[in-house]
Amino acid sequence: MSVILHIDSSVRKISNTNSDHDSISKNLAKLFITQLKNETNIDEYIYRDIGVNPPHFITQDWIGAVFTPTAKRDKQQLQTLALSDELIGEVERAELIVISSPMYNYGMPAQLKAWFDQIIRINKTFDFDLARGDQPLKPLLSHKTLVIITSSGEFGFDKGGINETSGHLVPHIRTLSKYLGVTNIYEIASEYQEFADHRHEQSLQNAKNRARALANQLATTLNENSQSKRCEQF
Ligand SMILES: Cc1cc2nc3c(=O)[nH]c(=O)nc-3n(C[C@H](O)[C@H](O)[C@H](O)COP(=O)(O)O)c2cc1C
Repeated sequence: MSVILHIDSSVRKISNTNSDHDSISKNLAKLFITQLKNETNIDEYIYRDIGVNPPHFITQDWIGAVFTPTAKRDKQQLQTLALSDELIGEVERAELIVISSPMYNYGMPAQLKAWFDQIIRINKTFDFDLARGDQPLKPLLSHKTLVIITSSGEFGFDKGGINETSGHLVPHIRTLSKYLGVTNIYEIASEYQEFADHRHEQSLQNAKNRARALANQLATTLNENSQSKRCEQF
């Protein structure tokens, strides 16, 4: 059973009347997913454009509901947690998670942070035990692969790059991803969008090539996994 969860988070649409306004991260994610679907059978494909339809921010009532024991939650509290339950359910089902994100103000869009805030939830995606000492949080999900697809206007956010210390987008997603049960991470990045020069063209082309190659590689893994699951059933 291969389930793919695809989250887009740019506020820009994938396709606009003026193609200069098209979201680069969404188009790279689309290329990756299209290639993946060409190379493997996907049992369930879950898609959310949270840039256009963002999850609501968590509130004091949300925290109150989370910390109320499940059996004691009233109707209002169940309603408050309904979206969180649904989003967590999607993460739980997924074997492969694809998150595309623009860089906004050197980090992730508020919409993507809102999605993580709805999902990283005590006794659902992590538990907490002071008996573990200085690291009391433990993720409850595991064995998932994450592909992070990003686009930025500037460049050099990797180790050793000129903007290394300002690059909070990928490191933040990497830190949070363990609470999605991610154990394997791949990255695809397009840079230089604001320079609109040959460096951007080259960076975008490299990202497209990587998207195709990575889709082929992960399709092989998904095919092998479903083959071995079929064998286990006999
Ligand atoms: C509100 C906003 C903030 C941005 N902040 C940054 C930034 O801090 N660093 C950067 O390199 N690019 C920044 N950019 C440029 C975007 O990362 C770039 O346009 C990227 O291509 C957006 O992704 P998208 O094409 O998928 O929409 C910003 C753009 C916007 C609209």
